[in-house]
Amino acid sequence: METYLSGIQPSGLLHIGNYFGAIRQHIQLQQEDGEHFYFIADYHALTSNREPEKLREFVFETAVTYLALGFEPEKACLFRQSDVPEVTEIAWLLASVTGMGLLERAHSFKDKVAQGVKPNVGLFTYPILMAADILAYDSTCVPVGKDQIQHVEMTQDMAGYFNQAYGEVFVRPEIRTPKAEKMQKVPGLDGQKMSKSYGNTIWIFEEGKALKKVINRVVTDSRPPEEPKDPEELFLFDLMALFCDEAEVNDWKDKVRAGGEGAPGYGHLKGVIRHGMEEYFASARERRKELMADRGEVERVLAAGAEKARARATEVRDRAAKASGLS
Ligand code: AMP
Ligand code: TRP
Repeated sequence: METYLSGIQPSGLLHIGNYFGAIRQHIQLQQEDGEHFYFIADYHALTSNREPEKLREFVFETAVTYLALGFEPEKACLFRQSDVPEVTEIAWLLASVTGMGLLERAHSFKDKVAQGVKPNVGLFTYPILMAADILAYDSTCVPVGKDQIQHVEMTQDMAGYFNQAYGEVFVRPEIRTPKAEKMQKVPGLDGQKMSKSYGNTIWIFEEGKALKKVINRVVTDSRPPEEPKDPEELFLFDLMALFCDEAEVNDWKDKVRAGGEGAPGYGHLKGVIRHGMEEYFASARERRKELMADRGEVERVLAAGAEKARARATEVRDRAAKASGLS
């Protein structure tokens, strides 16, 4: 039986890149037999967040987002990372068998430093806490986006170091990435990868005028509609493909390729994306509104999730502590 586990950082309003690259897969997987643990990585968020109120609000927002998009708490466990403090103990046990070199090779750390972030120790040891998150539940399968693959590989290494020293304590997890390549790199408004740090995101629950405004910001060029164009060069169609079926997308592509009278302008194509997206998330938006008005329900889900997760992590912590000579 598989034990699925994944985490997501509470970084504010989640965008459609987060949805297609991570959340959707998490929600679909809960239909599979096995155990499911999904958590909101608030300890990890502390490496960059200095605003306590915001952090609490982002955690809540992330929980609401999952629940609104179809997460079923009866099937899968949704919880806050910090409700299971045992993971920090496991992280210490892992840190004690892990060489500095492994962490120094982490791309995400090197990228952040290259971007000019002044790193704290927590950011450097981030992969150790992430390994503890995974190993604490005897997870066998970790669904993540491409950008997190190296972190899970490091987890496999750390489990190996520990087991080599102390015997078979941790279960080696396998990685699962989204099947469709296009889901791994949803483009943002400017055509670069959609990312909060680039300011090019589309919020999952955006609607009405605000959605229209944001979709209008999708970058195009000044060629007129009549001019025939290669649709494969237009990332607009990558966005459209998220919400419209293949036949419809191909139909629009054919029209753009042909050009001439009756070919759609960019504004028209943006309208297609907007309608597609509004419809795609319509029921989730309604559900979100209900949940925002019932904070108690969200808190109950998180508390129940934490209880179940903590019981498992405590078992694993005890096993690892005992093996390493702690009493
Ligand atoms: P972040 O908060 O940017 O670390 O994103 C959380 C997760 O969402 C990542 O691990 C990715 O799997 C996924 N993700 C973020 N941005 C995108 C994107 N533009 N396209 C596809 N997946 C994404
Ligand atoms: N690092 C992941 C991200 O930024 C979040 C995360 C933390 C995670 N712990 C995890 C993902 C454990 C999978 C498993 O997206």
